[in-house]
Amino acid sequence: MSDAPQPRGGFATRIGFVLAAAGSAVGLGNIWKFPYITGEYGGGAFVLVYLFCIALVGLPLMYAELIIGRRGGSDVLGSLRKLTQSSGPAGAAVSYAVGGMAVASGFLILSFYAVVAGWAVYYALAYAGLFPLEAGGDMFGSLYGKNKSLPWHTFFMVLSVGVVAAGVNGGIERACKVLMPMLAAILGILLVYVGVTGGLSESFTFLFKPDFDRLLRAEDGGLKPDAILEALGHAFFTLSLGMGAMVTYGSYLKSEVAVVRDGIIVAILDTVIALVAGLVIFAVVFSHEGAEPGAGPGLVFVTLPGLFADMPGGQVFGFAFFVLLVFAAWSSAISLLEVVVAFLVDSLKLDRKMAALGAGFAIWGLGIWPARSTSALDLLDNITTKYMLPLGGLGIAIAAGWLLTKEDREAGFRALGPIGDVLAKGWTVIIRFVTPVLVALVILNKLGVLGGE
Ligand code: PHE
Repeated sequence: MSDAPQPRGGFATRIGFVLAAAGSAVGLGNIWKFPYITGEYGGGAFVLVYLFCIALVGLPLMYAELIIGRRGGSDVLGSLRKLTQSSGPAGAAVSYAVGGMAVASGFLILSFYAVVAGWAVYYALAYAGLFPLEAGGDMFGSLYGKNKSLPWHTFFMVLSVGVVAAGVNGGIERACKVLMPMLAAILGILLVYVGVTGGLSESFTFLFKPDFDRLLRAEDGGLKPDAILEALGHAFFTLSLGMGAMVTYGSYLKSEVAVVRDGIIVAILDTVIALVAGLVIFAVVFSHEGAEPGAGPGLVFVTLPGLFADMPGGQVFGFAFFVLLVFAAWSSAISLLEVVVAFLVDSLKLDRKMAALGAGFAIWGLGIWPARSTSALDLLDNITTKYMLPLGGLGIAIAAGWLLTKEDREAGFRALGPIGDVLAKGWTVIIRFVTPVLVALVILNKLGVLGGE
């Protein structure tokens, strides 16, 4: 440890940054969670609301995080501290609250994320022929909450630590430049496959033909407004917002010229991949008599394997699908770990390799708990995605909208010329008023104040 400035490293290329940020965004949220919540809420209308939330809350927060990182040039806490200095004690208070919670979120989310990713590793190996392929329910039952998941959880943590220890350019950028194109290729192949095996047109109708009655009315005719709030909450989980992942990646950017454009590209990539994953999964579901789109969290780990079993080439399809899931989870996990590691390196001046190993070990240790206990897994998932991320998003919106100088706030828009001025004004109104109000609504709903959940 020394007080000498640490060499921070950074993304070597713009495409490298875009792939890393997209890698963070595209994860279990897109391929596991988005399809199952869409299934539960009945399809098209939910998708429409979700797209609306991505545009109204996701995009403005994405820009806010990236510009905070780029202008702050440090980890999430350091960047916020630096940029809110002019706001006095309020700035410091928000920085510590948001920065501290962001690092804690990265730590807690990765602890159970790696468990779910570990199941996907096991499934991929089983489809590759290394383990017997049991019926979906049995295979899942033998892992879910069981010691048997530990080796795979451990293996996945080692993969993540290895990449982060190798640095931003040498590890994260390099890994994502390989993983993301492969992910896109696998998804493309799966789409062609279901195009041949059938179900694609029903799947398309299910996802893109809004049926608002189904969204807003439960079977008994009661209103289900929590669907809207669920879509809002998922919008920032899927874009990796609310916990400083995009602040941290933004801090490794060499210029702010392309921040607005790249933020939009990342959001579009994330959305397209979620939609295509949904198309593929529901095509498999609809090509089987009696299979249910609303199967919940078991959709990917229980329902799908059951359906693969009697599809032509189902084993290859299953293998490709779970490799896709592992790649998506891996490039997200490294961003979760990087938030913690950047904090240890920038704010606490630790060596990167030591930080990656130490944080990885501690997160792995905590992960043994959700690996062995299904209620611990639920608890960690609920605390982080339902409370900490929305609160973090709220804090970041407040910091970006109210505590940054105009110069810092609008830096990314200036590169765009006259149209940038208009966009900057629109963004400022949204991040100051619209985003905080909507996010506050999510939190109040989760707390049960609005009668939801
Ligand atoms: N966006 C990731 C996903 O969809 C999850 C994630 C959340 C990653 C927050 C980083 C930070 O799976």
